[in-house]
Amino acid sequence: MVAEAKAPIIVCDNLVRIYRVAEHDVMALQGLDLVVKAGELMGIVGVSGSGKTTLLNILGGLDRPSAGRIMVNGQNLLKLSNSALDQYRLNTVGFVWQQSARNLVAYMSALRNIELPMTLFGVSSRMKRRRAEELLDLVGLSDRRNHKLSELSGGEQQRVAISVALANKPKLLLADEPTGEVDEANAQRIYQIFKGLNHELNLTTLIVSHDLNLAKHVDRVVAIRDGKVSSETLRDQRPRGDGAEHGSTFTELIVLDSAGRMQIPKELREQLGLQRYARLEVVEGGILIRPVDDHPGHGHDTNSVFHETDSAPKETRLQQWIRRWLKRGDES
Ligand SMILES: Nc1ncnc2c1ncn2[C@@H]1O[C@H](COP(=O)(O)OP(=O)(O)OP(=O)(O)O)[C@@H](O)[C@H]1O
Ligand SMILES: [Mg+2]
Repeated sequence: MVAEAKAPIIVCDNLVRIYRVAEHDVMALQGLDLVVKAGELMGIVGVSGSGKTTLLNILGGLDRPSAGRIMVNGQNLLKLSNSALDQYRLNTVGFVWQQSARNLVAYMSALRNIELPMTLFGVSSRMKRRRAEELLDLVGLSDRRNHKLSELSGGEQQRVAISVALANKPKLLLADEPTGEVDEANAQRIYQIFKGLNHELNLTTLIVSHDLNLAKHVDRVVAIRDGKVSSETLRDQRPRGDGAEHGSTFTELIVLDSAGRMQIPKELREQLGLQRYARLEVVEGGILIRPVDDHPGHGHDTNSVFHETDSAPKETRLQQWIRRWLKRGDES
């Protein structure tokens, strides 16, 4: 296959989401930058509370960012009216949640569940049925078409949920821990379905997961830490030349944001004893980050700056300038 330059379908620039809870601000996203090309199959990982679901909700048009910019499929989500955002949710994105109950209506059959989103689009009954049958076939569940939610296993429910998400032919598929509540065999099957959809339909797919094996199933894994992208794991595209399976090795790269800031993983900081200060040295082919533990300000109690002490406070530069300026006024 000839590699072609693909346009981005998602561009997040300095995305911020602040939740206000009982007079306190929670910074769920803290200036997140992300570009996803059309047709990418991407994983998102990060510890609990790092902002993964917040990002997916914003990409899915279920929530709006507090600041920053976000373009999806050529639409500026910050500028969409509420009704345009409703349309965006219906037309552009498909969602798969961890709890399949959130994707499905319990008392309806698998087939009817898939038909439901198409009803909102005014698709004819015959077309709805045909497409629902095709989609059930796609996830290997044709023989369960008349089963209700309670008559399906957790893994089967999740596969129906994928079909529901695809019913309106979305441009973007978002999955929030889709394998979180299924066993290993079903998780493998679900990943195979995502891969197949991505390959056959060129469907851009973002999968949030805690699964350590996620990298094996996607082209790229983005790690989120404290509401920012901190590193990316890319599939090594170079041919191995040793007969091993092509593309089975991975490289983790630290991501710099638009201001040149980067996060050094906690494990590395602890290993090197990196605390508040570090010294950068340019060495051949790179930059060396050396921990500094003898900085004059190191260990200084910052609280003391904000509290009055017994000694007379030193005059700040601003105070000095104001004093000089007032003096000049006296002289004239
Ligand atoms: N609706 C909300 N109101 C207030 N705070 C919220 C809300 N939603 C999320 N948060 C907070 O924002 C932060 C990010 O939450 P988010 O759900 O995006 O994390 P996550 O990475 O998906 O975690 P998990 O892996 O546990 O699902 C957390 O500190 C969370 O407590
Ligand atoms: Mg989450």
